[in-house]
Amino acid sequence: MSEPKKLFLDLHPDSEAVQEAVEAGLSRSPKQLPPKLFYDKRGSELFDQICTLEEYYPTRTESAILEDNIDEITERCGSSVLLIEYGSGSSNKTQFLLHSLPKVEAYIPIDISKGHLLEAQQRLEHLFPDLNVLPVCADYAQHIKLGLNRSPETHTVAFFPGSTIGNFEPEHALGFLERIHETIGIGGSLLIGVDLVKDIRILERAYNDSMGVTAAFNLNMIHHINTRLGTNINASGFCHRALYNSIENRIEMYLDATLDHQFSIGDTAYHIPRGESILTEYSHKYTLPAFEKMAERAGFRVDQVWTDRDNLFSLQFLTAH
Ligand code: AVI
Repeated sequence: MSEPKKLFLDLHPDSEAVQEAVEAGLSRSPKQLPPKLFYDKRGSELFDQICTLEEYYPTRTESAILEDNIDEITERCGSSVLLIEYGSGSSNKTQFLLHSLPKVEAYIPIDISKGHLLEAQQRLEHLFPDLNVLPVCADYAQHIKLGLNRSPETHTVAFFPGSTIGNFEPEHALGFLERIHETIGIGGSLLIGVDLVKDIRILERAYNDSMGVTAAFNLNMIHHINTRLGTNINASGFCHRALYNSIENRIEMYLDATLDHQFSIGDTAYHIPRGESILTEYSHKYTLPAFEKMAERAGFRVDQVWTDRDNLFSLQFLTAH
């Protein structure tokens, strides 16, 4: 394999930004840490592992929807595409899309984990030697100015698979869709995976897998914080908990303290007593009408929705107007 190239844009959050996010979250009541802190190299690897689990239906269901409907999807994308992927991780699903699209002007994967991004770039350049890969390391939830020159015949398509939109609280999801709208411009499109409201047993199984990979993923956030901030928080004094809140239509993931924790970040001392919980993630599930309403508020038209036979998951093609 060839040597990895450099990033197109490096906006990797520095340790100061991580410290601010951790301090802000631990000062809230109840305590909360942002899910972006899951994704160091190990966290991204654990997430890839989650995606292969039998209990975690979103990945395989979305991939099947993509494969079963690829002709309609590529037709919607058009003959020449500039593809931007938000939260690209290892770009696994994208490979199928890249194989199927007739012409890709450039592929811009955006991810917070630099190591993962560079590995994906290397793999893609090996698989698609003619593909122009322009990796951007950034917290994609923030406004990112890509400064792109697009030819008028190229259709800008943003790809946001996996229902990662569900990790935003609804008002932030709306803001995020508005930022994508601004980036792709009027006429640009968004191919987005949206997980659907369903039987609570299927949902809770997906976030409490029998092999404990989701638990390891959740606990890895503590290791990541320790590495980035030089803290010494005892990860083995926490345990993973995930439950479905059927009023808010969301999975809630927590780290529950099983011991008393005392540690300092900078000059601030923290105490997390045994029994206290830290919220680490929401994963909202949508009905089709509720998602359409939000997409329309953000300035999108829903052109087409594909689902699986059991209505577990949806893949949606939206266009900015
Ligand atoms: C990335 N995101 C869509 C996943 C989800 O299902 O909300 C993250 C995840 N958390 C636990 N398992 C997977």
